[in-house]
Amino acid sequence: MTRRQAPRGAEDLLPERIPFHEHVFGTCRAACERYGYREIRTPLFEDTALFERSLGEATDVVSKEMFTVERGDTRVSFRPEGTASVVRAYLQHNLDKTRAFQKLYYMGPMFRFERPQAGRQRQFDQIGVEALGASSPLLDAEVVALAHRCFTGMGLRNVRICLNSIGDTADREQYRDVLRAHMEPLLGERCDDCKVRFERNVFRMLDCKVEGCQPSNRSAPLVVDHLTEPSRERFAQTRAALDALDVPYELDPAIVRGLDYYTHTVFEVRCPDLGARDAVCGGGRYDHLIEELGGPDLGAVGFAIGVTPTLLALELQKHPAAAGGLPALDIYVAAVAAEQRLAALQLAEQLRSAGLQADTDFEDRSLKATFKAANKRGARLMLVLGADEVANGAVKVKDFGSGDETVLANDGGLAGALTARLQAVS
Ligand code: HAM
Repeated sequence: MTRRQAPRGAEDLLPERIPFHEHVFGTCRAACERYGYREIRTPLFEDTALFERSLGEATDVVSKEMFTVERGDTRVSFRPEGTASVVRAYLQHNLDKTRAFQKLYYMGPMFRFERPQAGRQRQFDQIGVEALGASSPLLDAEVVALAHRCFTGMGLRNVRICLNSIGDTADREQYRDVLRAHMEPLLGERCDDCKVRFERNVFRMLDCKVEGCQPSNRSAPLVVDHLTEPSRERFAQTRAALDALDVPYELDPAIVRGLDYYTHTVFEVRCPDLGARDAVCGGGRYDHLIEELGGPDLGAVGFAIGVTPTLLALELQKHPAAAGGLPALDIYVAAVAAEQRLAALQLAEQLRSAGLQADTDFEDRSLKATFKAANKRGARLMLVLGADEVANGAVKVKDFGSGDETVLANDGGLAGALTARLQAVS
């Protein structure tokens, strides 16, 4: 039997939720454009090798969470994130040659085979930005400022921007040895995956979610304490810029991020209202990815907002946009009896042509029930067409606000007269 349910971790977006989504997409789009970002749309799937190469084969996202399809010698995966695709497109279309520095943003679905839970889905939307082709520490600050503006713009309260630096290749080489020395005697306490991670990529042990692995992660030496002087200086410049831009942030030396491409600044935006999995946004600098994918040695920085946890947080905070409902309505046109239904539809259509938001009844309601329905929809005026009105070329107008009833001529001047009346009461 066919199951009448969407697959686990995927959800339908019903009409009443769309305005709420659009509220988040719309405020972020406006913020991105204000900072000079242009939209890019890349395919929903890519060659699997792109993600393996960019995100790292030892990451949870690549090793456990990808939706991969294999046919013959084709191996593609639904994108688990957007950064790899944007860098691929930047290089494929030689954007680096037209203008090395590009600010790009994207919004759309991503796919990760995770255990669905509050705020986590297998198909979820991200809103991301990538500033490609520049290494200035000030750009990191501007990117964090943009993330902050997206959240303030949409009205999410109680967000915390948590910042760290994981340094560059030289810092990490040094830190790798320190971390291995810490982890080696504790391997007996770690999960089987971590034993593999120890050999393949010891940094990934730090983002293991298994409970038993947490004590040895908590006692691990911190990368930020093992930065070389230039990396420390760079981080100080980014922080000073954030202070100058009045962006509130806190330092969290435990942030490591779950993807391999990061260097220097890494950050997460958290909303504690969400409980344990509180990240509504993650990002940072990735100075070697462009080169890693065959391009020039250019730096880049970006972030992605998780729309699902963001909507959940707004809902928990009872944001008015979460209330849903039907679209606003100016005018409801009611027929007194079945004979006037076509005339009512015709009139609604004329009013729409004049730019008004009008609707009529298609459910054969009585006039009384139509009144109630129009009121519930929040209509401001109701027009009533009975046999007399149709015969006289007139229409009865009821104003839901004042309760007044008047009769107007149903002619070419009607839409204008109604518009004037709506403007007068708004
Ligand atoms: P990420 O931290 O893996 O980073 O994901 C960013 C955000 O996407 C997370 O903070 C979370 O809000 C949301 N997210 C992740 N997985 C799920 C899920 N299964 N369901 C719902 N939301 C989810 C990246 O993806 C990087 N590409 C960000 C970036 C851009 N870094 C530099 N540029």
